[in-house]
This record gives sequence, C-alpha cells and structure tokens, in this order.
Amino acid sequence: MNIALSGYGKMGKEIEAIALQRGHTIVLKTGRANAASITAEDFRKADVVIEFSTPDTVTANIRKCLEAQVPVVVGTTGWYDTFETIAEECLQKDGALFHATNFSLGVNLFMKVNSYLAELMNKYDSYDVEMEEIHHIHKLDKPSGTAITLARQVIEHIDRKKNWSISDRHPETLFIKDLREGEVPGTHIIKYTSEIDDIEIMHKAHNRKGFALGAVIAAEYIIGKKGIFTMQDLMTS
Ligand SMILES: NC(=O)c1ccc[n+]([C@@H]2O[C@H](COP(=O)([O-])OP(=O)(O)OC[C@H]3O[C@@H](n4cnc5c(N)ncnc54)[C@H](OP(=O)(O)O)[C@@H]3O)[C@@H](O)[C@H]2O)c1
Repeated sequence: MNIALSGYGKMGKEIEAIALQRGHTIVLKTGRANAASITAEDFRKADVVIEFSTPDTVTANIRKCLEAQVPVVVGTTGWYDTFETIAEECLQKDGALFHATNFSLGVNLFMKVNSYLAELMNKYDSYDVEMEEIHHIHKLDKPSGTAITLARQVIEHIDRKKNWSISDRHPETLFIKDLREGEVPGTHIIKYTSEIDDIEIMHKAHNRKGFALGAVIAAEYIIGKKGIFTMQDLMTS
C-alpha cells in the first residue's frame, strides 16, 4: 500500500516505522515547510493518506484528500467543531474518512469499560464522577480528544451529568482535570468518589506505538471503502 503522511511529527514518524514494518511504502511526507505547495494531485500518488498534523491545518488537508478521491485516516484532534461539515462533504463527494480521537486498541477497550461502568453507576447517586487526563507539554488541544470521547460516554449514561468542563466544578458538570507534564504520551483516569469509597479506572499509554499501529491498521481497513468509519467499525469487523 502507498501511504502519504500528512503531518510528519512525533506521530507521523511512529506511523512511518510501523507502516514500513508491515510492508507498506511512504510516498509523501508533509509538514509546515511544504504543506502550502501540496495539492490534491500530490495526494493522488497515495492509496491512502494518514493525517496527524495540527487542529488548525487538519480540515484543509482532509478537503484536499476528498478532492483527490483518496481515503483519509485522521488522528489529529481538536477540530470537532467542523466535523459535521467535513462529514457532509465526505458523503457528498463519495469519499472515505476514518477518524478516531484515539487509535489504540487498549484505549478502545477502555472506552467500552468506561461506558459499562457509567451505565452501572447511573443509579448510585452517592458517587460523584471526575476525570483526569495527563499529556506531554507540547500538546496543542485541551482537554484531549480522548478525554472528550470518554466524557461524552459518561454523560450519555449518567443522568445527573449534563455537560463537561475543564474550569467549573458543578454537580451537573463532569469536571475534567487536564494536566500537561513532561513527555507523557497519554493517561486517562475516571474516578467515582463517595463518602465511603472510590472506584477508579485508568488507561496509561507507555509510548505512541499503539496509536501508530491502530492508524496503519485503519488505513489497511479503509482501502476500497466509501463513507465514514470509526474504531467501532474496525473492532467489530
Ligand atoms: N488519534 C490518536 O490516536 C492520536 C494519538 C496521538 C496524537 N494524536 C493527535 O495527532 C496530532 C499530531 O500529534 P503529534 O504528536 O504528531 O504532533 P507534532 O509532533 O507536533 O506533529 C505535528 C506535525 O504537523 C505538521 N504540520 C504543521 N502544519 C501542517 C500542515 N499544514 N499540513 C501538514 N502537516 C503540518 C508539523 O510540521 P513541522 O514538523 O514542520 O512543524 C508536525 O510535523 C495532534 O492533534 C495529536 O493530538 C492523535
């Protein structure tokens, strides 16, 4: 498979290593220096584009992929305000878009545990629930995309929580403490606390390999498909 890497930073480099190990070829790498000159035509050299750039650049890059009619796997976070518009454009252009706030198999299993625990805890209102996410100091978005996905799952199941916040503690708000420390690849903790005890679940990434492997497997999966896909589709396929 010929892969274009849109964004060749920490994740782009991990993805390259895994893609080469799996027998794929990298035909294009883009970054700040060459992004403006890259056209849809350039992306056509690839069977699939893997997009891990920045919240400010991701949507323009996805649009080039849609124009080129090349499937795109998007791992960049912090662009969800434009997601509905992009999804509509993808369907109109008969394109293929795979998106995930977290490509790690472990995190996606953790998300299933999070949903199940929230469902169980809904009727036990003596417990309050909070979240903590810890990432490296270079991360541009706050809270993490993974934390937002986890928060949405909690809010979907816990009737007493209506929204999430990184600044306000309120009984109806799921508080997310967002910490930025050193080179931490990604830690997420969901904690239910009562006067009597605590129940806590945690996912801690040791490195970026899990995200990179998931993104390459998603790229292999999306070839030949049309539409919008998530890790849910991949994990149930
Ligand atoms: N979904 C997941 O599983 C997952 C996992 C980890 C990270 N992420 C997300 O993935 C994104 C990238 O993370 P990272 O750690 O790799 O960040 P990073 O090391 O800062 O890399 C970002 C890269 O984007 C490049 N870039 C800047 N403008 C661009 C443009 N217009 N077009 C293409 N590339 C451009 C930068 O180029 P220069 O090198 O020239 O500056 C840099 O190489 C972030 O949003 C992060 O939150 C997602």
